[in-house]
Amino acid sequence: HGSGHFSNEPFTDFSLPENRLAMESAIAAVKTELGRSYPLWIGGKEAWSEERIVSINPAATSEIIGEVSKAGITQAEEAMQSALGAFQRWKKTPVADRAACLVRAAGLMRERKHTFSAWLVLESGKNWAEADADTAEAIDFLLYYAKEMLRLSSTNEHQPLIKLPGENNVLTYIPLGVGVVIPPWNFPLAICAGMAAAAIVAGNTILLKPASTTPIIAYQFYSLMVEAGMPADVIQYVPGSGAEIGDYLTSHPKTRFVTFTGSKEIGLRINKLAAETAPGQIWIKRVVAEMGGKDGIVVDETANLDAAADAIVASAFGFQGQKCSAGSRAIIVEDVYDKMVEKIVERTSVLTIGLPESNAPIGPVIDRASYKRILSYIEDGKSQGRLVAGGHAGPEGGYYIEPTVFADVDPAAPLMQEEIFGPVLAVAKAKDWREGIAIYNDTEFGLTGSFFSSDEGRIAEALQEMHCGNLYINRKCTGALVGVHPFGGFNMSGTDSKAGGHDYMLLFTQAKLTSRRE
Ligand code: NAD
Ligand code: ALA
Repeated sequence: HGSGHFSNEPFTDFSLPENRLAMESAIAAVKTELGRSYPLWIGGKEAWSEERIVSINPAATSEIIGEVSKAGITQAEEAMQSALGAFQRWKKTPVADRAACLVRAAGLMRERKHTFSAWLVLESGKNWAEADADTAEAIDFLLYYAKEMLRLSSTNEHQPLIKLPGENNVLTYIPLGVGVVIPPWNFPLAICAGMAAAAIVAGNTILLKPASTTPIIAYQFYSLMVEAGMPADVIQYVPGSGAEIGDYLTSHPKTRFVTFTGSKEIGLRINKLAAETAPGQIWIKRVVAEMGGKDGIVVDETANLDAAADAIVASAFGFQGQKCSAGSRAIIVEDVYDKMVEKIVERTSVLTIGLPESNAPIGPVIDRASYKRILSYIEDGKSQGRLVAGGHAGPEGGYYIEPTVFADVDPAAPLMQEEIFGPVLAVAKAKDWREGIAIYNDTEFGLTGSFFSSDEGRIAEALQEMHCGNLYINRKCTGALVGVHPFGGFNMSGTDSKAGGHDYMLLFTQAKLTSRRE
């Protein structure tokens, strides 16, 4: 894995007994490690705090995954000072060495793939396939960004310069400085590893503030990077309150960039705070914000209806609908509307709820706040559409909610407009495919979308008209692959960046032109 070849990490086939056994034993092994206390890492050293963040298993809320020290303002400031010091050394470390760290980390993660997935199962409530895909994506990001940074740093390969006789001109991509990296809990390994890896392989140093519901998996990632040879102070591991240290670090004069993935509300807050110039600040902060979605699938009467129903249900309910890419809207033309609703309900009603560790198709949502928010959307939804599947809380003991489908929802209703981030699908009727596309576009978001049709002319128009960063034809709208489907959306879905794409590394670098008379 040098600067050349990249291929996606294959997914594990859990229909094979040996893979099932391997996963079961990884889960059993991780279970023996639950309940530990973890420190912060500041300046390459452990640091403990009185205050703790307790991480629980959302599927069995009495099970404690572990507890991490919680950084306050004083420790956030110490971490910033350490990161500034570390930057002076790390930026001079050759790109090849930085990239080699990522490649080694990917190799180690691959060796312990099921262990990482087991942590995801227990801490975030993903079933095996969802956890396995998260781990595979993390491996992909590590290798892909290593390769991309090597490409960007090979002279003139990225941006060939026009030759002027008598001059030697070179464009070099240098790092920015200290960044704050703020991942969400829903891809607690892949997005954490991806954003962190891109930032550091470019030569930046970072403060990593994991999501408060999934700090342990972020800790595992930090430990892996150190084991892979990354100097321990290149990443400062600082869990803490978003409102407290998140705001503090975003507003800090020495913060050069903030890389965030999460909700629209927090993304906008970060963008606003970062735009203010703090006393002593000598740059404009760069914000990379990947935010929410209200993604949808449009189906016309020429489509393969079974394939469309499969895709709708997979996109709506994979990881309980807790993906920015989740297809939370289905827009069906009236000719096939009733048939499609029936097919969707049929497929939804067979999805059983249970423990992620036993690989149930539907597990819990992430925490009590989400659970209450989603149930209240469902309650309110009963006056916005016809409840055709689910509609209730699931079994006790974890944050379970039945996969829920509302039909006949008005395109302007909150169910069709607001990101619920849970297992709730809204279905709307369109008079024809053009109106379907118009309904699809009637959103402030623009992350993923799908169009199901067998008509080439319509597909061509859909490709042009549907306004989103990741547009799929005749397939589900989740499951983007690194390097294959560069990922990120338009409008309120973020700053139009493309994770896992050729130009992502530009967001973590600045180009310096040097011109020398020969
Ligand atoms: P969130 O916005 O609640 O939290 C994201 C992160 O921001 C967490 O680490 C949180 O602690 C932190 N945070 C909270 N307040 C902060 C502040 N004031 N300053 C700095 N950081 C702060 O989002 P979430 O619930 O973790 O994740 C779900 C959201 O993420 C959904 O909206 C989803 O669509 C979005 N998401 C987007 C993408 C994408 O690529 N576009 C990918 C995954 C998730
Ligand atoms: N990248 C993830 C997907 O496409 C969010 O589903």
